[in-house]
Amino acid sequence: AQKLTVLGLESSCDDTAAAVVRQGGQGAEILSSVVYGQTELHSAFGGVVPELAARAHAEKIDLCVAEALDRAGLTLGDLDAVAVTAGPGLIGGVLAGVMCAKGIAAATGLPLVGVNHLAGHALTPRLTDAVSFPYLMLLVSGGHCQYLIARGPEEFTRLGGTIDDAPGEAFDKAARILGLPQPGGPSVEAEAAKGDPRRFRLPRPLLDRDDCNLSFSGLKTALLRARDQIVTEKGGLTRADRADLCAGFQQAIVDVLASKTRRALGIYLQEAPAVPVLAVAGGVAANSAIRTGLETVCADLGVQFTAPPLKLCTDNAAMIAYAGIERFARGEQDDLTLAARPRWPL
Ligand code: KG4
Ligand code: ZN
Repeated sequence: AQKLTVLGLESSCDDTAAAVVRQGGQGAEILSSVVYGQTELHSAFGGVVPELAARAHAEKIDLCVAEALDRAGLTLGDLDAVAVTAGPGLIGGVLAGVMCAKGIAAATGLPLVGVNHLAGHALTPRLTDAVSFPYLMLLVSGGHCQYLIARGPEEFTRLGGTIDDAPGEAFDKAARILGLPQPGGPSVEAEAAKGDPRRFRLPRPLLDRDDCNLSFSGLKTALLRARDQIVTEKGGLTRADRADLCAGFQQAIVDVLASKTRRALGIYLQEAPAVPVLAVAGGVAANSAIRTGLETVCADLGVQFTAPPLKLCTDNAAMIAYAGIERFARGEQDDLTLAARPRWPL
């Protein structure tokens, strides 16, 4: 059979992205992957401003597509389909991508394939490592935190997830509380490496509960209180105080994720998968303490651990093109009535 070549578009949050991916025997081949970030655009506001994001996506998405095709050395005529994130996400941004993809489909006659952004993340281990279904997926980013058993390109069983903040969001808020630069994950991790995780014993919410749900907002409040107490007592934070707070905070997140992952793996392993695999994706998967914590649990339970390279863990269009390939290869596609959906649970 001929290998499918698919263009993917992504614009659901603060990255405008386009990529060309070609189907392969083992996973797939990324012919190009272009990401225009918007970090600077939103930096003064302490978060993504939806209206600004949408305008920037609308301005950049076509340039991004042109660049992705150019880098792949292809034209629209070489493609088999156009895949686009149709949700969930900030609706203005999702619309910019969907309208661009519809324009391409209408002009060229190429099939249009709508992709769920979360499915894009969740299928990435198949793109990079040709992992077989069923595998357990932990999505941990600034916006997501959930356990999924991936059974097929569009079949996911959600075992649980955060009931409040996502871990990346917690890292970002922790950085704000301690006066460290954004994004908070890398700066808190760097400080934590110099600190003592035992000095501040921060809470590990929901560990007593026999499910796969997580909570991180109480941890942030506890960090705020610990900081305020030091400031009241000593008039300010020393470098050591800050490092110890970061270390205690990160350790609490590592412990919660390790413990809940053990529980989720227990449920997944009941299905006796031939090759049990835990895959992680999302920006927080960059954290080496968290990775080590997860690897330890996996080694303990005889489960293979895999994490895509970081640039495929964070938002990108290669994962959307690949998820499009999986849908299209099963004979599925959309027409020009494809809707952009702000909410779209897997
Ligand atoms: O997947 P991502 O790029 O964007 C979405 O949220 O969709 O993830 C970004 C998040 C940010 O909250 C950032 O602080 C966090 O991932 N992050 C980290 C690390 N690097 C990035 N969190 C912990 N440790 C890190 N090394
Ligand atoms: Zn994402």
